[in-house]
Amino acid sequence: MSKTILLTGGAGYIGSHTYVELKSAGYDVVIIDNFSNARPDVIDRLAQITDAPVTWHKGDVLDKAFLAKVFAQHAVDAVIHFAAKKAVGESVEKPLDYFETNCTGFSNILMAMQAAGVFNVVFSSTATVYGEPLSLPYTEDHRIAPVSPYAQSKVTCETLLRQLKDSDPRWNYGVLRYFNPAGAHDSALIGEDPNDIPNNLMPYIAKVATGELPHLNVFGDDYDTPDGTGVRDYIHVVDLARGHVQSVGKLLDDQDTHILNLGTGTGYSVFDMLRSYEKACGTTLPFKIGPRRAGDIDCFYADPASARDYLGFEATRGLDEMCQSSWNWVSRVRNS
Ligand code: UD1
Repeated sequence: MSKTILLTGGAGYIGSHTYVELKSAGYDVVIIDNFSNARPDVIDRLAQITDAPVTWHKGDVLDKAFLAKVFAQHAVDAVIHFAAKKAVGESVEKPLDYFETNCTGFSNILMAMQAAGVFNVVFSSTATVYGEPLSLPYTEDHRIAPVSPYAQSKVTCETLLRQLKDSDPRWNYGVLRYFNPAGAHDSALIGEDPNDIPNNLMPYIAKVATGELPHLNVFGDDYDTPDGTGVRDYIHVVDLARGHVQSVGKLLDDQDTHILNLGTGTGYSVFDMLRSYEKACGTTLPFKIGPRRAGDIDCFYADPASARDYLGFEATRGLDEMCQSSWNWVSRVRNS
């Protein structure tokens, strides 16, 4: 019998792509989402991609009664927890909101799981937990030094998982530390579509390409990198989604616990990204060099070896595929 995975935040950017990969791997999947940062039509689009009805419930991870009802209704084998706030700048302004949604929300999920006898959880973490790099690439044993309330919230959740496992060995968890997710599904039916002005590079470039924003502001060209702009490890969202399928499979098969980077191991600069996007959309994209963004660092990228050795995970899609799939998605959204 196929296993059932509950996806919190399953209608969001990474959650929706993970839904598709889980379904194609043969899992039954239940989505919960409060739709605070998801397109309302994503459920229909997931049904279209997978050619099957979607099981979903609208609700919030802060609503304990809602969570208890969901666990009573479905025989869940494992949870993949995405539902969280993720804007670093906003977290500095609203640390309480970040603590409540990210930490209290997660502890609510864990309590509901425990009450229902479900002990397998994959947690969506971030490379931002490492802070200023002492050495690169970041390996999973790099020291942890969160510099924002957002990063701190992820560290708090990772710590809670460790403490929970120490308290009760029935718990199995996978912590996945994402690098910079980018791109969209090949169908161009789902992708990243922030309502406000994007904070992150790729959605910002996408809005310049569609004409919604006049130019890219390059945050500094005097970094200690080959072309002076910031270097990051961009990973295709479909590769990232596949990493979740492998992680949850390992928990279910081997009663496992792991903490792994999900990145490609290759760094690209802001200009690399811009050039690749120009190729994808077939036009020159305007940019202005501006000051550095507070808190940014020159360069970081993953050591992907542990995820490869442990899960057999390997990112297969490069920068051009990220930009092309993003462009296919945003140009379709704009014209629909
Ligand atoms: C940001 C978050 C990080 C999160 C990651 C997810 C911050 C400080 N960090 O990381 O916690 O895990 O997103 O994707 O927000 N850039 C520009 N112009 C722009 C936007 C970005 O030049 O309009 C540059 C940045 O200076 C950086 C690179 O592009 O060098 C990538 O920026 P971004 O996409 O925001 O990602 P991170 O800063 O790596």
